[in-house]
Amino acid sequence: MTTNIAFVGFGGVGQALAEILMERKESLLESYGLDAKVVAVADMMKGSIYDPEGLDIEKLLEAVRKDGTVEAYTGGSNVITGLSSIDTIIQTNADVIVEVTFTDVKTGEPAITHCRTAFEHYKSVVTTNKGPVALAYRELAELAEQNGVFFGFEGTVMSGTPALRMPIETLAGNEITEIRGILNGTTNYILTEMEKGQSYEGALSKAQKLGYAEADPTSDVEGYDARYKTAILSNYIMGVPLPHTEVECEGITKMSQEQVQAAIKQGKRWKLLATIKKEKGEVTASVKPECIDASDPLASVSGPTNAILYQCDLAGPILLTGAGAGLKETGFSLLIDLIHFQKTNKLAKIN
Ligand code: HSE
Repeated sequence: MTTNIAFVGFGGVGQALAEILMERKESLLESYGLDAKVVAVADMMKGSIYDPEGLDIEKLLEAVRKDGTVEAYTGGSNVITGLSSIDTIIQTNADVIVEVTFTDVKTGEPAITHCRTAFEHYKSVVTTNKGPVALAYRELAELAEQNGVFFGFEGTVMSGTPALRMPIETLAGNEITEIRGILNGTTNYILTEMEKGQSYEGALSKAQKLGYAEADPTSDVEGYDARYKTAILSNYIMGVPLPHTEVECEGITKMSQEQVQAAIKQGKRWKLLATIKKEKGEVTASVKPECIDASDPLASVSGPTNAILYQCDLAGPILLTGAGAGLKETGFSLLIDLIHFQKTNKLAKIN
């Protein structure tokens, strides 16, 4: 059965997923039974387009990259342009909404409204936006469950590195009592560069050029990005709702190069660490710079790489490390969600 997909937001991550779906069309069908057809795109800056019969991805990407608007698409005669994001969610024949808008993480909007609207109209959502999962997880997950649709958000923590599904699925049966992690690539990159003698400002500017940092890097360097991810881990992995405002949070802006290099001389390393502890059903969490011993498994994680250590009561400590950002990696996180959507075969109750 074909899965009709609508992109709400079509920046670098959305385009990366579209490219993967085009390049791997045959193997996705053959290996996973995923027959994905892109039927619509709606983007605040790049316009909107809808063809119920499906859009040609190559021509769609060409229109965006050459003309900066999806409305320059020349692939079909029955296309409809000018639908808003909400109308694209409600009125098109999409089964799954890929929600990758530019969202204000403080309010979670417009992504929260997009997810809620999709679920209310019996459509599934896959997203990389942290806002909906950090701020409104319980409400959205319950609504999706109630309406028999799928809610995938693997890319919200560590992009395509499966920091969410791996503990939930593969480590099922364990109680996870503690999670420690390096959840922000920008700050880990800055600290690594400072160890090599680079200044804080120089390293931040390089991180921005390399595309690791958020649009407003304050979120990275003050620890807010890691704090949202910490709230997601508590909500989803620990099963305990934790408002991000209750996570103790300190960034790396006060750290000096001397401090970073002095630690190296003592065989230690400064890392911006997220820690979540669960005791008697209660969770406490923090994001702050910590000076850890070289023997700590997180000490050798350098550059923009992320890592997460799960303390499992049966399996012991399990370390997962990999990319925490990047267009292809984050596009891949959406693909994992689409493959799981296909596996769970969650067809909306209305069908
Ligand atoms: N700006 C984030 C980071 C990327 O540096 O890790 C995605 O959350």
